[in-house]
Amino acid sequence: MKYFRDSPWLWPCMAGLLMSTLAPAVHAQTVDVEAAEYLARKSHCTKCHAPAKERTGPALKTIAEKYRGREDAVAALVKHITTGPKIVIDGEEETHKTVQSQDEAQILNLVRYILSH
Ligand code: HEC
Repeated sequence: MKYFRDSPWLWPCMAGLLMSTLAPAVHAQTVDVEAAEYLARKSHCTKCHAPAKERTGPALKTIAEKYRGREDAVAALVKHITTGPKIVIDGEEETHKTVQSQDEAQILNLVRYILSH
């Protein structure tokens, strides 16, 4: 045991252990693109939003850029797509569409998908 602490293998070993415990946390942040696109289609978001082109609504890229580096990005987008805020389209006030899911994980996945553009 006396030699264990001085072993050249100990630190690489510890680093490996640390990485394997951190990996799942990092993984949880990755986006399930297919699920996000499915939910966006199902909720008719794609009628007004495209990845890179401005339609009736801003492009997902434009939204992601607006929120880049903002700590409140996820919270703000979740609020925007779940509470139906008032927006103005062609001079007419409308209620923004809400996402067709009650599942928090699915909603967060869609928000991370939008912000990943
Ligand atoms: C009828 C067209 C229309 C549909 C359908 C629509 N949106 Fe929007 N969306 C807009 C417009 C217009 C804006 C810009 C509103 C503004 O900035 O006042 C917007 C803004 C946004 C924003 C940016 C909010 C911000 O704070 O800048 C997000 C995110 C968003 N929409 C997501 C979605 C999602 C998700 C869906 C589907 C559930 C959806 N939209 C459906 C028209 C639409």
